[in-house]
Amino acid sequence: MNRVYIKTYGCQMNERDSDAVAALLRARGYSFVDSEEDADVILINTCSVRDLSEQKALGKMGRLQKLKKKNPRLVLGIMGCMAQSRGSGLLDKLPELDLVVGTQKLHRVPEHLAEILKTKDGLGPLPAKLVDISEEADSQNAIKDHQESGSVTSFVSIQQGCDMNCAFCIVPHVRGDERSRPMEEILEEIRGLAVSGSREITLLGQIVTSYGRGLENFKDKKSPFVQLLERLEEIEGIKRVRFTSPHPRGFKEDLVGCFGRLEKLCESVHLPMQSGSDRILRLMNRPYGRDRYYDIVQSLRARVPDIYLSTDIIVGFPGETDEDFEATRELFDRVGYDMAFIFKYSKRSGTPAAQMKDQVSDEVKEMRNQALLDILHKSSLRRGESLLDTTQEVLVEGWARKGGKLMGRNRGGRKVFFKGDGGLIGQLVNVKIDKATVAVLEGNVV
Ligand code: 5AD
Repeated sequence: MNRVYIKTYGCQMNERDSDAVAALLRARGYSFVDSEEDADVILINTCSVRDLSEQKALGKMGRLQKLKKKNPRLVLGIMGCMAQSRGSGLLDKLPELDLVVGTQKLHRVPEHLAEILKTKDGLGPLPAKLVDISEEADSQNAIKDHQESGSVTSFVSIQQGCDMNCAFCIVPHVRGDERSRPMEEILEEIRGLAVSGSREITLLGQIVTSYGRGLENFKDKKSPFVQLLERLEEIEGIKRVRFTSPHPRGFKEDLVGCFGRLEKLCESVHLPMQSGSDRILRLMNRPYGRDRYYDIVQSLRARVPDIYLSTDIIVGFPGETDEDFEATRELFDRVGYDMAFIFKYSKRSGTPAAQMKDQVSDEVKEMRNQALLDILHKSSLRRGESLLDTTQEVLVEGWARKGGKLMGRNRGGRKVFFKGDGGLIGQLVNVKIDKATVAVLEGNVV
């Protein structure tokens, strides 16, 4: 039997893609191992959003090549975004690499592996490296039913690709045009997940708020995405719904009005700001300004005063001056986030921003990064402390890695650790909070 090891870099979409590939391989009799040394097939699922993510994956695969000395039958593959962007160029850099599979071809991994293994076992044509990065119509519908049965939280891809043209972003190049899955198919997948034990669904896409563009229609002034959220309310067994990643332009009255109204929709929103400077937002080709962004925050808080907010910020976009950064810092501080992903701008070739002049130095990026992290630390801790002595509804996900405690999350997505019985896994329990740090809570079941 062939043993597989998959290493995943990057976003939740990548995690979900890796799970999907794993499920396809398992269905064909492959087994999974926890260590690279024990594997016959090692696949790396990659991210291209920043140079750092690419360098990590390249370094990893560079080191893995040495394992072939001990095991010549070993198959090494790179899949996902970097496979898409670099294609056969990866074979020049990594001479021992066997397989390169792009973002729209992940469902083909099993047949490609079968072919390569046949060759390695002397039963197929001569060693050929396999590169498959072409586009495939309907690839958004190609992989489903991928989840391990029994998982309490599940990720469901509702869309692939992105048609926005943010000046910094490589995603449209590596994930292709925006394509949505039909709503009925999504609902069917989620009904199946509910039956097999899922209690929380996270809808995934590069720009989920524009779900259904060109496929489903607005009804009663409600976007297809809002209609999908409403339909999830009806699915028995599903207790919580989240989504990521949205775009601020999707937060019109119809979506804002869902918070506090739809029972399953958690009071937690990821709202990528990217910058708080109007000038930089324009250069980034982001279709909103700081005032509109803050209006959205206030409209959400008008519906749910203690709603949890998180964001993405890029510091050091080309041309970002001290004044521009101060505008970002000010807005970031004023909103007060529970969580934020702060990125130092990374030049991605092929994107408009890569050509822009006035690239910002690493030192300045680092200072700005740190300034925002300091603010985040305070606002995140403030939230934690505000939860002391309150009772939180926690969905129990499983055992914590250490300490023999259970781990779950409140509706805001904060991790909560507490003592309890394994029978609670998959259930909603009330936990009284008695300890809070920046990122996690502890307490006791009441
Ligand atoms: N450099 C730094 N961060 C980037 N992101 C996207 N492209 C880049 C880049 N070139 C960040 C954005 C996006 C998140 C997923 O990654 O903040 O929202």
